[in-house]
Formats: sequence, C-alpha cells, structure tokens
Amino acid sequence: MSAFRTLDHVDVKGKRVLLRADLNVPVDNGIVSDGTRIDRLGPAITEIADKGAKVILLSHFGRPKGRDQKNSLKPVAAEVAHVIKRPVKFVDDCIGETAQRAVASMKNGDIICLENTRFYPGEEKDDPTFVAQLAKLGDIFVNDAFSVSHRAHASTEGLAHLLPAYAGRTLQAELEAFEKVLDKPARPLVAIVGGAKISSKLDLLGHLLEKVDILIIGGAMANTFLLAQGKKVGKSLVEPNLVATAQKIMADAKAAKREIVLPVDAVVAEKFEALAPSRVVDVDYVGDQEMILDIGPRSVEQVVSVLARSKTLVWNGPFGAFEMEPFDNGTVEIAEAAAELTKAGKLVSVAGGGDTVAALNAAGVVDRMTYVSTAGGAFLEWLEGKALPGVEVLRVK
Ligand code: 3PG
Ligand code: MG
Repeated sequence: MSAFRTLDHVDVKGKRVLLRADLNVPVDNGIVSDGTRIDRLGPAITEIADKGAKVILLSHFGRPKGRDQKNSLKPVAAEVAHVIKRPVKFVDDCIGETAQRAVASMKNGDIICLENTRFYPGEEKDDPTFVAQLAKLGDIFVNDAFSVSHRAHASTEGLAHLLPAYAGRTLQAELEAFEKVLDKPARPLVAIVGGAKISSKLDLLGHLLEKVDILIIGGAMANTFLLAQGKKVGKSLVEPNLVATAQKIMADAKAAKREIVLPVDAVVAEKFEALAPSRVVDVDYVGDQEMILDIGPRSVEQVVSVLARSKTLVWNGPFGAFEMEPFDNGTVEIAEAAAELTKAGKLVSVAGGGDTVAALNAAGVVDRMTYVSTAGGAFLEWLEGKALPGVEVLRVK
C-alpha cells in the first residue's frame, strides 16, 4: 500500500475532513435492508473523529435526476448514527449556504452527513464549479468508497485535485486485499467467473487469462463454452453469436498453457422456476427441452479439487441460478469449500460483484473468506485491469 497516500500520512486533528463514503445501500420503505457497506465504514469514520477532526460525510445515493426526496440520504445517515453509536447530523444540502453553515458550526470530533451529491448534475459531470463548491467545505479529502471509484465524479475524483487527498481505511483494506490477489498472488492462482453473459465479461476474461493459472467458468456463460465445444445445451441460456469468441478464448488459453475448467455435469429442468422438477445429467446428454440451471455434483467435486490445489482464489459470479432453490446448490457447496480452505490458512480468497456478494451472503461464508468486496461495477473494472479514476488520483507520484 505504499503507493497510496493514506491516513498514516496526515494529521487530521482540527481539520475539516470531507469523507467520501459509499452510502448507496439498499433501502426499503425508509429502512436500510443491507448495511454491509455501513458496517465496514463505521470504524473508519470513528477513527477520524477520534483523532479530533470534523467529519463531513459525502455520498451519492441511487441515480436521481436532480433533487428527488426518494433519493434522500436522510434515512441512511440515521443508520450510520445507529451503527457507530454516535450522533450524525443530517444536512439537507451538500453545497451552498446550508452546508457551509452546518460545517461552520461543527466542533472537533463532530460528524455530519451531507445530502446526496447526485442531486446536482455537476457531480456526475465532475464540473469544476461544483467541485469548488464542495471543496470549500473541507481542508482535506479522504476517499473511503472503493465501490464508486470507477466513476470520475466530483466527489470521487474532482475533489482529490483541489484538496490534499488520502485513501481512507476501508478503501485501504480493499486495495490491500486486491494486491494479494492479482499483483502478488501466491500460486497457483485460480479465478472463478460466473454469471449469465460472456458478452459483459469479455474484457474480464481476457485480462484474467493473462494473470491466472486456472480459470473456472460457471453460470450461464459456461453454456456458450459448452456449445462452442459442440455439446447440445437444449433450451439453456446461451449467446450463439459468441461461440467463435468462446472458441478463441479456449484456443488462446491452451496456447498460453492456462487451464480452463468447464462443468462436466449439470442440473437441468424444463422450467425456469424455483423447485422445478430437475435431474442431474452429464453435459453430453442435455435434452432438447431442458435448461442447465446449475452445475452437477461431479462438477462441484472438480472445482473443489482445483481449489484444494490452489493458493489464491478470485471469484466473480455465481455458478447457477442461485436465487432459486435448489439451483443454488453448486454455488453454496463451492463457497463452503472455499471458506473452509481459507479458514484453514490454505487459500487466500477474494470475491466481489453484486450477485456474488448476495450469493456468498446466502451461503453464510462471508466472514470466512479473506475479503469480500461490496463493490459491483468497480470490482469488475478492477478485475478487467482498468485504472479506477478515484483510486489513481490517490497514488503517490
Ligand atoms: C454501486 O452501488 O455500485 C456504487 O455505489 C456505484 O453506483 P452507480 O453504479 O450508480 O455509479
Ligand atoms: Mg452499480
């Protein structure tokens, strides 16, 4: 982490700290339904407050077009207060007089949360006037929101050019976990890539094949690879126009001596619904009317044995239609195996991406993995090897 400026490089006492958080959490009827992002952020907020700084939380919430009460951060600010067990004053604007007055009245150690930055179009445009209005409120900028660092927005990237800028502890932990995986991994390094579409993960597959020793393909995207191997996949979700791409990926992998692991058996059903009557079948014998909805037990065994001979795992995307029982089985069993190997000190395991986190949460393994990122798009861009603007700007030059 030496390449980034962190809180170890600054004395925050008495300073107004603009702390970019990702408070973009699921809220149902005014109640935060998954507070994982807030739970992770809590200690990072209190550390800065306890050092005698004035903490000014900045975040977007949803994708509002202009000011829209449905996207107010007010209920989220209340949840932050609840999690850190301290008062967090909510201020219903993020720039201008209201915000300036609120900041001017703060004492050292106080925490306030400003309203949704995306209420202003200048946020997503990274508009210099808007950035300057935000910058007026703080002495230093701390980015603690990896999950939105793929956006070059005013509150993620712009501010870092105007104010002294640092990585917060949550972002730091995330970057440190990632470093262990793709930058300096213990080998063999294996990646699991699942999910529905190859088309949305082409960059990712390309980048991973340069880095990993073994690539395990799961989810509906495996169906297109099976089709590319000449197998019949019945009514399974496939991308026929990507068969040639899948063939090229397999040929490139072979030339580069990378191993690609595909399912050898599958759980198939004729209906795409929970508890649909299903059977286990070798991937050579999928019926015309059947759909592949999960990997079968022999495939699970195969993946588990790959994990057992690997030292590092990076995982994005579930194996089957994990949101429907019993088609979550493959994902759950592999998650359990990865978690146990990690707990035994035999595997470093990092996972991320929206669906992946939901699947690993459902499997109850999050606490036993090395690191599970709450980032969706940012995690994917990182896996694709792309530079994230909100992170790059914190790099020591
Ligand atoms: C997320 O939840 O993925 C981040 O907060 C980014 O949100 P966005 O995709 O609306 O930019
Ligand atoms: Mg997103």
